[in-house]
Amino acid sequence: MRVIETISGFREAYASAVKPLGLVPTMGFLHEGHISLVKRARDENATVTVSIFVNPTQFAADEDFSTYPRNMDADLDMLRSAGVDLVFAPNPSEIYPPGFETQVDVGDIGSKLEGEHRPGHFIGVATVVCKLLTIVRPDKVYFGQKDAQQCLVIQRLNADLNLGAEVVVCPTVREPDGLAMSSRNVNLSPEEREAASVLYRALCKAKSLRDEGVTYGEEIRQEMRQIIYEAPSASIDYVSLADSNSLEELQEVTEPALASLAMQIGNTRLIDNMMV
Ligand code: PAJ
Repeated sequence: MRVIETISGFREAYASAVKPLGLVPTMGFLHEGHISLVKRARDENATVTVSIFVNPTQFAADEDFSTYPRNMDADLDMLRSAGVDLVFAPNPSEIYPPGFETQVDVGDIGSKLEGEHRPGHFIGVATVVCKLLTIVRPDKVYFGQKDAQQCLVIQRLNADLNLGAEVVVCPTVREPDGLAMSSRNVNLSPEEREAASVLYRALCKAKSLRDEGVTYGEEIRQEMRQIIYEAPSASIDYVSLADSNSLEELQEVTEPALASLAMQIGNTRLIDNMMV
């Protein structure tokens, strides 16, 4: 496994890499969720690249960029075990040199839900992923359903700017109690960790109501909120039941829809979603 820190170094490695090449973009502090994407990429490509870059532009000034968990040595061990060929781990100045100005804004799909609660977040995500796709030029790029809106943003970006990668969306990997694996879970205290299971339970509630034939969107959202209120340390950012392509909130649910939510538990912000 080669670890490459510069764009020119990566372009050289690319020239001699056997194709097809798969890319898994990450911010590091890897867990089994990330590794599931790596395994899928390993199955489908001759060369697997993982990028590790905690992207400053997708964090707002009051968010956790400086305290975002990092552990490069442990990450590299996991990637070596997973059979990765190339790791692209640039410094911020390599990606954002002095004078950097350009931003990629995918418009409407990035302005709802997460975009509404984290203004500018998806501009940072779209900008860095656009750069990663043009630097790495993968045949396939892998993302997790855990960040469902991010997947929609990337699909829009890839189509609109003809970036030419096939976007592959992989299922969410969960802990035994249903909590979606996330690098941020390490920040939860034992009590908060226990309370965090309300996210998954709220999503399962939405699913069971849909399975029972309930179609009134607001009734389902209200039942989801009710479950989250059981966790005293939790405060809701949003609870959504939306069209899974446009992310428009639904009054009547007749087709499979995206149930998603974001909440703050103590100082940690968690998101999750499920198709229902
Ligand atoms: P990060 O949060 O490190 O996640 C990297 C990829 O792993 C994303 O596609 C994410 O959806 C996926 N992932 C995270 N947890 C998962 C889980 N429990 N199951 C399945 N997949 C999971 O998302 C980002 O980084 C950044 O925004 C990035 C795309 C790298 C741009 O900076």
